[in-house]
Amino acid sequence: MKIIKATDYNDMSRKAALIISAQIINKPNSVIGLATGSTPLQTYNYLIDLYKKGDLDFNQVTTFNLDEYYGLTKLNKQSYYYFMQDKLFNHININPNNIHIPDGTNQNVEQECLKYEKSILDAGGIDLQLLGCGHNGHIGFNEPSEVFFTDTHLVNLTESTIQANKRFFESEDDVPRKSYTMGIKTIMNAQKILMIVSGESKKEIVKKAFFGPVTPKIPASILQLHRDFTLVVDEDAFSHCE
Ligand code: GLP
Repeated sequence: MKIIKATDYNDMSRKAALIISAQIINKPNSVIGLATGSTPLQTYNYLIDLYKKGDLDFNQVTTFNLDEYYGLTKLNKQSYYYFMQDKLFNHININPNNIHIPDGTNQNVEQECLKYEKSILDAGGIDLQLLGCGHNGHIGFNEPSEVFFTDTHLVNLTESTIQANKRFFESEDDVPRKSYTMGIKTIMNAQKILMIVSGESKKEIVKKAFFGPVTPKIPASILQLHRDFTLVVDEDAFSHCE
């Protein structure tokens, strides 16, 4: 586990964007796993800037998003599909055929999960997976549990995640209760993992996840066991660890 300390959110985002861009420069046809939430927003802005300056080319890049709310259509502004188009894909030269996000409208759960896993395998696996971290240590939507989930699956969101994510919806009732998510095994199979964490509200979970025991009760803790895991964390989020 490599820990890179950043001064603040902006510094964390710049460092993360530079790590992702190094990956794409080294391997132009990289398969990149992407995350949603508020944490990656500025990282995506930096990637867009690098593209606009001519320093980064997404033409051959393939992406796989971690998760998607169950039941939301692509046109729904709260869907992760919409989020990714709006915050990143519409602003770079990625080939739309190379973008992969679970289809939240597919009610055939088994089919959707198998299809997603197969697409990742067919693409040659994920080279670099970007992750945020939920307040309860969830990664993707792998919520705290008694066991580590494996492949892509449909998950019931916990009350704390529903509460944390309701800010994006008109009312709490509108927050979907289920989501498709890559599993822990899917995530751990990535060649490299890059997690970004910022802000005081994450300081307790950073300490528990990376300075405590590996446990499915804190899904992010499994990352301690990954062979090439980098945590880029700002001072506020790291403040309980020193
Ligand atoms: C959501 C996403 C996660 C993300 C988490 C943290 O639940 N499914 O992938 O890491 O939110 O969000 P934020 O970055 O807004 O704290």
